[in-house]
Amino acid sequence: MTPIQECLINKRTDLNPIWLMRQAGRYLPEFKEIRKNNTNFVDLCLNEKLSEVITLQPIDRFKFDAAIIFSDILMIPFGMGQKVEFQKNFGPKLGEINKEEMFNLKENDFSNKLSPIYKLLSNLKRNEKLNNKDLIGFVGAPWTLLVYMINKFSPKNGLSKSFFEDINLIEDILRILDKFIKLHIKNQVDAGATIIQIFDSWAGLIQNDFDKYLYNPTSSLVDYTKKLGVPVICFPRGISDYSSFCKVVKPSMVNIDYNVNPKKIINDVDIPIQGGLDPQILLTNKDTLNLEVNKYLEAFKDHPYVFNLGHGILPETKIEMVEELVKIVRNFK
Ligand code: CP3
Repeated sequence: MTPIQECLINKRTDLNPIWLMRQAGRYLPEFKEIRKNNTNFVDLCLNEKLSEVITLQPIDRFKFDAAIIFSDILMIPFGMGQKVEFQKNFGPKLGEINKEEMFNLKENDFSNKLSPIYKLLSNLKRNEKLNNKDLIGFVGAPWTLLVYMINKFSPKNGLSKSFFEDINLIEDILRILDKFIKLHIKNQVDAGATIIQIFDSWAGLIQNDFDKYLYNPTSSLVDYTKKLGVPVICFPRGISDYSSFCKVVKPSMVNIDYNVNPKKIINDVDIPIQGGLDPQILLTNKDTLNLEVNKYLEAFKDHPYVFNLGHGILPETKIEMVEELVKIVRNFK
């Protein structure tokens, strides 16, 4: 059994397993090298050869306990027919929603459009570099995908004023998202994903109707993934009540964000926990890193825990700081 799977059955392991959200990305010179010659990000996500190389880059360097496939949560709206672009120094930019086309989309057409992602997984499954490691597939949570689909770009400064204007549209989109996210989960599991992570990066923007936007749609995906026999990790970034979330949604493991107090959460949550460290800490120095990482390792020393961050690793992160982080986690106790 892999170290993370041991944690997932709620066992305290001797060593804390470790991987990092967004570990395959822009802080790696070898990724930037590939990206330089591949300016279309969506095309890169659909290039199973290069995606395999990129997925394995952080494994080669840091020997993490899991590989997360190089892909993006916005490949789901792309598969559903919405235009998705990534602009330099701006981030994702989505096109108009064609309701008619989206509602009539056949499952087969969605799966065919995203087939390189599933091929990527089945190729990785055979790679001996991943022996005794997990292969993580992922999806965006319905709320976060809805946010991008309607807002059309990252809601860094909040949602657009007109966001809730067309409630019918929102409800229709949530319904079809449930269908296609499940299909994307199933296809990834069939192709070899051993864990599914659900990224709800903008969950913190939900102010009311928690059942409608957070609990119900996420529970639906969690139940579905568990029925497929695969553990599911939830990352509801920025919510104020992780305890209720875990009680209602019952993920196999929860990834906490950096605002969660590690000492407090162990009393509130009785499932395995992942993550927490503020990715900004990796931009400081080794002494601060040691101090901060040890806070998490100490707090969770009797709780099933997978070391990870409280959000994705930042592009400015230095390689030697990641090396130091791995060293600290591996040498603890
Ligand atoms: O974790 C991994 O290494 C696997 C790959 C991965 C990417 N995106 C690759 C990527 C994963 C798991 C994601 C998830 C994702 N994508 C999320 C959820 C996690 C989070 O960070 O909140 C979100 C919100 C997105 C949407 C997205 N994709 C944004 C906002 C951006 C632009 C800014 C940014 O954060 O990089 C992307 C682009 C993106 N996705 C890049 C990578 C490596 C950078 C592309 C580039 O410019 O080279």
